[in-house]
Amino acid sequence: MYAAVRVLWLFTFGLLSSKQRSVLYRVCSLLGYLPVKTAIPKVDLREIIRVGTVVEIHNPLGGAGNVSVIELVVIASLIRGRRPERLLEIGTLDGRTTMNMAANACPGAQIYTLDLPETRTTGAKFVSAAGDGLASRILQLYGDSAKFDFSPFYGSLDFIFIDADHSYEYVLSDSRQAIRLLRNGSGTIVWHDYDSWDWEGTTRALNHLYAGGKEFGNLRHIEGTSLVYLTLD
Ligand SMILES: C[S@@+](CC[C@H](N)C(=O)[O-])C[C@H]1O[C@@H](n2cnc3c(N)ncnc32)[C@H](O)[C@@H]1O
Repeated sequence: MYAAVRVLWLFTFGLLSSKQRSVLYRVCSLLGYLPVKTAIPKVDLREIIRVGTVVEIHNPLGGAGNVSVIELVVIASLIRGRRPERLLEIGTLDGRTTMNMAANACPGAQIYTLDLPETRTTGAKFVSAAGDGLASRILQLYGDSAKFDFSPFYGSLDFIFIDADHSYEYVLSDSRQAIRLLRNGSGTIVWHDYDSWDWEGTTRALNHLYAGGKEFGNLRHIEGTSLVYLTLD
């Protein structure tokens, strides 16, 4: 009875709420319907979070737009494992992930994070921690990622997290920029919101890049998360 009423509500008033639409999407996925099929092979979470990996997590309880706690642990583990020295996040929001990138990078690492021109909450997590050793490693950049002049950073970054505009065109553009940004063509790129109910543009763009092969031929979807990652050596 509860289920019947709940389903009726989902298909009426529920359609007005983004949270409830995500429930509908999950129901559809469970029943075998996916608007955009995934194409990127999965990698076992245990290959990313190795036994014995120690990570430092700040602000585990995220809010709307943040990555999940498990995704935060994955990002922290990848950073611990690869020891990047120069990191970039595209899409800062409140800076929760930025702070965790800083917390898990090696001493002396520099973290850049890009967002659209400043809002009251941009980078709030590290702005409020100003003076703290972690916050001092972070440099906020402003601009639209499709127009931002990344050229001073070309060939100089080791780790890039892409989580800004999730449309097909932007994800393609941010991804291609990320390849140019890697130091000597090697490093790690991570994308958020693959196979997410409300960001089908991201899924389509990453499928397209994967299908094209070349530098994107080794994309892997990390099981149990909406993260895709690529490591180039
Ligand atoms: C999903 S949130 C990022 C969440 C954050 N990475 C985290 O893990 O908590 C997306 C952010 O990207 C920013 N954004 C959207 N379009 C952008 C663009 N074209 N260029 C740069 N930033 C953009 C938004 O302002 C927003 O803060």
